[in-house]
Amino acid sequence: MSPSTFQKNILCIGAGYVGGPTMAMIAAKCPQYKITVVDINPDRIAAWQTDHLPIYEPGLLEIVKQARGRNLFFSTEINRHIQEADIIFVSVNTPTKTFGEGAGKTADLQYWEKTARDILKASDSDKIIVEKSTLPVRTAAALERILHSNEKGIHFDIISNPEFLAEGTAVNDLLSPDRVLIGSRETEHGLKARQEIVDIYANWVPWERIITSNIWSSELSKLVANAFLAQRISSINSISALCEKTEASVSEVAYAIGQDSRIGSKFLNASVGFGGSCFKKDILNLVYIAESYGLFEVAEYWEQVVRMNEYQEHRFVRTMIAALFNTVSTKRLALFGFAFKADTGDTREAPAIYITRKLVEERAQVVISDPQAIANAKNDLADILSEVSFQQDPYLAAREAHAIAVLTEWNLYKTLDYRRIFQSMLKPAFIFDGRNILDRELLYKIGFNVYSIGRPPLTHFQD
Ligand code: NAD
Ligand code: UGA
Repeated sequence: MSPSTFQKNILCIGAGYVGGPTMAMIAAKCPQYKITVVDINPDRIAAWQTDHLPIYEPGLLEIVKQARGRNLFFSTEINRHIQEADIIFVSVNTPTKTFGEGAGKTADLQYWEKTARDILKASDSDKIIVEKSTLPVRTAAALERILHSNEKGIHFDIISNPEFLAEGTAVNDLLSPDRVLIGSRETEHGLKARQEIVDIYANWVPWERIITSNIWSSELSKLVANAFLAQRISSINSISALCEKTEASVSEVAYAIGQDSRIGSKFLNASVGFGGSCFKKDILNLVYIAESYGLFEVAEYWEQVVRMNEYQEHRFVRTMIAALFNTVSTKRLALFGFAFKADTGDTREAPAIYITRKLVEERAQVVISDPQAIANAKNDLADILSEVSFQQDPYLAAREAHAIAVLTEWNLYKTLDYRRIFQSMLKPAFIFDGRNILDRELLYKIGFNVYSIGRPPLTHFQD
């Protein structure tokens, strides 16, 4: 298809973990549309045009390659592309505010507002603006006010189309989503704009999985989905603490309750804690909104999900220190995994960041190993780089270590030769499985003192 015959010009502002993969999927599935992704970060844009994409996501390169140069383009020329676009997805970051009113809780919307003003300035025709970033409920109202302050007579329709992909499984989540949610104003204009976005997804998503709603329900549903998912993890993690005291096994409890179809089996893996750029940020956003409407009991209820996650991370470090005879000073400790979950190089809010810092404060020699996340880990620990070391190879990381802590559930760690690792470690050797992915009985037989989440430890010591 020649560039002039594309049916629509779609632009995405923000070429990150969401903007890049979602647009690549739309481009791959809809060759009739021209998709351009822009960003203020020229390095990111350059990387999207190579085979070394700026994010690690299994299967993504193949999707990008299907469309890149055909109907998928990456650029830093933001204004020119705004002008040409019929539909603009905005997928810029919305981190937690670090200053002023609402600091530490509400979303910092400065990138969003700047984008809205860029759109306003560069536009000379009507456009549909799609909220792809996760935003506090009622952001669309503020956005409408900014965009409709124009004196050019241009009409903007605002649509909420939150993204539900998870990192590491983004390609499959986009290819076959549980649902796509599209919210709009329920006016004639709003419904027409909603239909245009529905039509895009209908190219590959079955109709029954495309849900439409009013715009506020759509904005709020995104925050609530993340809050519910995180709540399950905090719930099972709270029970893991009780299991460690009572000789119950958290995996057995999770399995037993998960068989109840009303509860369901997913998202019940007890762990060192949830990480990722969104769970904490989105829950705190919900908390802030509830507080701002005077709903303090609602706010406290959800805030506890975050508090429980912090408790789990603290508890993990305390267990390590206590097991290692109450001192880790000068001890070599190998961390297996730094990414916030497997199959991503992303380390945003990874429990490993807190755990490393705590162990370094205790003067341990921390050695960090991860198949994909070492570059990001170096950025996260930039201020203490001289006090930690990095070793891609887990066998070398564990050599002469007192202990290993598994912090990310990479498959690689399930398949290592732990007999060989044990032989190379100082004795007594400890392993702290923060993801419950290892065979604890086997490790115990090999000679390790084994600490899992939600199980009493298996040690070779007599009390
Ligand atoms: P990200 O930081 O990876 O990407 C955001 C990009 O926006 C960056 O590359 C940044 O340079 C760019 N940007 C910022 N301001 C800009 C501007 N004014 N003009 C052009 N580009 C600009 O963030 P992300 O992980 O892709 O998240 C984006 C949004 O999607 C957030 O609101 C997040 O909550 C939400 N979300 C993320 C995920 C996820 O898995 N990461 C999943 C669902 C929803
Ligand atoms: C999560 C949601 O799953 C997505 O639907 C959502 O779009 C996204 O946040 C977002 O808004 O950013 P993501 O953070 O990429 O996706 O990854 P998850 O698979 O949800 O895992 C989050 C954290 O919870 C990870 O640290 C993971 O290890 C942990 N986790 C997950 C557990 O500790 N136990 C579980 O049972 C599941």
